Amino acid sequence: MTDKLALVTGGGGGIGAAVCELASQRGYRVVVADQDLGAAQRVADDLPMARAEQLDVTDESAVEAMLDRVGQVPDLLVNNAGIGRFGPLMSMPLGEFSLVVQVNLVACFVVARACARRMQARGSGQIVNITSINSINPGPGAGAYPAAKAGLARLSQQMALEWGPLGLRVNSVAPGFIDAGISTPFYANPVIRELRGNAVPSRRLGQAMDVAQAVLFLASDEASYINGHELVVDGGVTPSLLSQLPREPKKD
Ligand SMILES: NC(=O)c1ccc[n+]([C@@H]2O[C@H](COP(=O)([O-])OP(=O)(O)OC[C@H]3O[C@@H](n4cnc5c(N)ncnc54)[C@H](O)[C@@H]3O)[C@@H](O)[C@H]2O)c1
Repeated sequence: MTDKLALVTGGGGGIGAAVCELASQRGYRVVVADQDLGAAQRVADDLPMARAEQLDVTDESAVEAMLDRVGQVPDLLVNNAGIGRFGPLMSMPLGEFSLVVQVNLVACFVVARACARRMQARGSGQIVNITSINSINPGPGAGAYPAAKAGLARLSQQMALEWGPLGLRVNSVAPGFIDAGISTPFYANPVIRELRGNAVPSRRLGQAMDVAQAVLFLASDEASYINGHELVVDGGVTPSLLSQLPREPKKD
């Protein structure tokens, strides 16, 4: 066990919990930060050298207070907390649109900057922001989510540009078709599961641990020259558009 510290927002479930687990296996102490303290505590209880922190990532003073309480500057921040509010744009209440932007974009800036200011003094630090394949493609009824995630992908690059010279690396991971977290109710339908799995070039849905592996790779020394990159983890779905289009059957 080393002295490295990982801070994972939204670590209480789904992808965040898998990131906490893998970070722990890779020797990090882990701060599991979530607005749902019970969920964060359950994840932390299963890991050695982990602690749970109740945190609303949209509250800047709470973020500062938590970092002060923790005391140690994180070596790795994973901005994973995220939400979706779905429905047609025409009737979407402004409050729902704004909340999605606040949690998925603005809060990632708040938490990243608070950490980066502390990492700056040490001259090193890794930040990985969890976006989505919706940062590349809009989706039916996806509301503000694609815009917020696209903003986060570009914000990651802006942070890499400004903070790279300080010794920090900032990258993002864009998951798609993941059988965990916010998508769990969707994939509970066995027909949808099978259709979706078969639509993926890798012929399966992704698991939370597939995303965690990408996060820990980007945080590792093996990725030391990767900065400002968005790593898509979707089994090949995003570039497969042309193969999904109808074509005339082959003649022979
Ligand atoms: N599961 C997928 O299919 C999928 C696909 C692409 C991207 N993502 C992204 O992955 C990340 C994790 O999502 P998930 O699927 O594991 O969902 P999830 O709902 O299981 O986990 C999100 C966690 O964030 C926490 N959270 C929400 N708002 C918060 C706030 N204001 N402050 C602190 N914590 C807060 C929740 O309590 C929850 O534990 C999100 O950013 C999501 O957009 C998920």
